Amino acid sequence: MERIAAGADHAGVHLKNMLVAHLRELGHEVTDCGTHNTDRVDYPDYAEAVARKVTEAEAEVGLCVCGTGIGIAMAANKVPGVRAATVHDVTSARLAREHNNANVICIGERLVGSTAAIEALDAFLGASFEGGRHVARVAKIDAILPIRKEQP
Ligand code: RB5
Repeated sequence: MERIAAGADHAGVHLKNMLVAHLRELGHEVTDCGTHNTDRVDYPDYAEAVARKVTEAEAEVGLCVCGTGIGIAMAANKVPGVRAATVHDVTSARLAREHNNANVICIGERLVGSTAAIEALDAFLGASFEGGRHVARVAKIDAILPIRKEQP
């Protein structure tokens, strides 16, 4: 079982709530970072809350939902150490973990149906990083600095 931090904006709150319930049924320990209703909010606030839980080791995995799964992933990826992936199905979810060692899964409530979202989330959690040829590539992602390094 894993500790999972979940967050969504107003456009993702229904799917987030459903996925949180699903995760709890499976026995995962879920911290729900909100939002909790459909009042308009800004997805970067929830992306950051989830991302910090992951990088501060209060959760192994983050789950972010917005309308498309795109904006909330962009925002989560601003937190160093986060590798957030927008996924749409089982294959993209599995590969995000196996190849990219994603630690935050992002889904768009307006684009992905609830059954596909559950299947993708289960595939993500059931997969593990393959290592091997992917190690150096993921290390290069993590090593990218906000400002370009001086070239030798
Ligand atoms: C909110 O309307 C919507 O823009 C947001 O949930 C998300 O899709 C942004 O990427």
